[in-house]
Amino acid sequence: MSNGEPTVVIMAGGKGIRMLPFTEHVPKPLLPVGNKPIIEVVIDKLINEGFKHFIITLGYKGDMIKAILGDGRDRGISISYTTEDKPLGTIGSLTLIEEIPQDPFLVINGDVLTDQNLREILNHHGRTQALVTVAITRYGEHSRFGHIQRDGEILNEIEEKPLVYYEIGAGIYVMAPEVIKIIPKDCFFDFPDLINKIEEHDRINCFEINGFWKDIGRPQDYEEVNSDMGLLKRLCCLPAGDMTTESPNDMGNISIPMAMPSLSYEEARACFDVVLSTWVNEGRKVKEFEDGICHYLSCDHAVAFFNGTVALHALLVALGIGSGDEVIVPSLTFVSTATAVLHAGATAVFADVDEKTFNLDPLDIEKRITDRTKAVIVVHYGGQAADIDALLKICNKHCLLLIEDAAEAIGAEYKGRKVGSGGGVAAMFSFTPTKNITTGEGGMVTTDDAHLANNLRLIKNHGSPEPYHHTILGYNYRMTEMQGAMGVEQLKKLPAILRQKRTIADYYQNKLGAVPGIVPPYVPDYSVHSYMIFTIKIAGEYPRSRDEVMQALCRKGIDSKIYFPPAHLQPFFRELYPHLSLPVCEKVSRSILSLPIYASLSPQDVDYIAAVLHELSQTKGPIS
Ligand SMILES: Cc1ncc(COP(=O)(O)O)c(C=O)c1O
Repeated sequence: MSNGEPTVVIMAGGKGIRMLPFTEHVPKPLLPVGNKPIIEVVIDKLINEGFKHFIITLGYKGDMIKAILGDGRDRGISISYTTEDKPLGTIGSLTLIEEIPQDPFLVINGDVLTDQNLREILNHHGRTQALVTVAITRYGEHSRFGHIQRDGEILNEIEEKPLVYYEIGAGIYVMAPEVIKIIPKDCFFDFPDLINKIEEHDRINCFEINGFWKDIGRPQDYEEVNSDMGLLKRLCCLPAGDMTTESPNDMGNISIPMAMPSLSYEEARACFDVVLSTWVNEGRKVKEFEDGICHYLSCDHAVAFFNGTVALHALLVALGIGSGDEVIVPSLTFVSTATAVLHAGATAVFADVDEKTFNLDPLDIEKRITDRTKAVIVVHYGGQAADIDALLKICNKHCLLLIEDAAEAIGAEYKGRKVGSGGGVAAMFSFTPTKNITTGEGGMVTTDDAHLANNLRLIKNHGSPEPYHHTILGYNYRMTEMQGAMGVEQLKKLPAILRQKRTIADYYQNKLGAVPGIVPPYVPDYSVHSYMIFTIKIAGEYPRSRDEVMQALCRKGIDSKIYFPPAHLQPFFRELYPHLSLPVCEKVSRSILSLPIYASLSPQDVDYIAAVLHELSQTKGPIS
């Protein structure tokens, strides 16, 4: 079977008790590290070292493992399986192998990651007469002192040979084929039982692992490896590109990312449960998320959508806005605020913003109102509540609807009320991973208008009040149940996330206040900021341009972003409005820079970012 090539036996039958509750649903070898199941990482490492023949011993949920790995042909290897129907221990499960390899073979636990070259262990074994070579790891060392005392007083200390402690539980062995004959069939047999059976002890050989090693079947190790990309890449012995994830914190030399969602076991567990319930499209969990949002904001209705852009589109349609209508929008925003208007068939009319708050300037709105204007969409920039009362005054005067694009503002407050309740006719929230809470993608419209909420439900659901009965032209804009389940968990964390982000923002304000030419966010009295982003202005007296600062931060491993380049200057809108000029928006956009902010950002990170900005302000000339 092996054509002289050594065989590897991978132990993958354990129940993963230490990893409960995750292993309740998924066997431990299929839990992910980086973007792959653990067992695939182990196999890929072995393939990299030239191994081609694998036997995998299965037990708990073995069918799932088999279904994922198959016979290995797609990877250019061969995989065969054994299945135990009762636990046989690491060594006991070897007795199930039907075709016993003719040469010494490698045995490795399916949850062991190491950058040790495993061929080296095989080669080392080959140089001995051993039946078994066991990989050992060093776990401690200390020197002993011998004391010479007189009347309790130490006269002299003599250092003796250092004592080194090893563990044999590395989960990596090389076995000679004869070993299998020693093991009694069909009974539980672990490595210590084998040692007792091998009477000539010089036939047991040790090999000290000289690299990194982790048994990620232990929760703390699993968590450590998954939260440290550098360690993960090293343990998996793979080139960087092979372990890439979409995670916002995996970006080349960037060590402080812009944003980091507060996601953990709770969201993972909630999604597991949904998947295993098999009810994966919009259902109970989405409803629970909607109810949770209503409760959090104190509003009457919340309608969930697949993302914020379609939520805004559906809202415009539900409000009867379409062809021939004009809607006033800011330009210092993500482009969806305006494109949703176009998708509804109406015209987006860009207005300018206030230089301090970056929110729509009420005076500029008034200048742009025509007899076609139907609505104003106000954006609460980055979590900074806009002056709703000032905007309502204008809207009421001209019979316009006020729509709130609160995509970035969950948790923000205006005059003691949560943004998204009691302001405009309705508000839209987005839950992409950079927002304060995330459902991957996700959107929500909140309103106190029952008729509007009903319309929104029809529109997002094929215009269908009941199955296969369609009363209006609708869309499929529904949220999935996995999104809903994540949302429920995220909402529980929102108060803590906001507390953390506000503390970090205060700390930033403190640190940056001392840097001349850096203007931290201005927060008016009526607003409690929710700091989805933390945007500074680089003023004229700062000796560096905004773009220079951005590049210098990047070189120091700090991410930063321009939120936003003006929407009206994007090529698509430039074609529609070639001569439109919004001087304040354009000026603001040239000088702003958003800095990293997320709940797990540490004060030391803020110290470091502030120190870099301070240092840049002290020097002129090329940046090192
Ligand atoms: C102000 C604003 N409006 C609309 C959207 C669109 O939301 P989504 O990305 O969920 O479609 C965003 C997005 O992220 C946004 O920041």
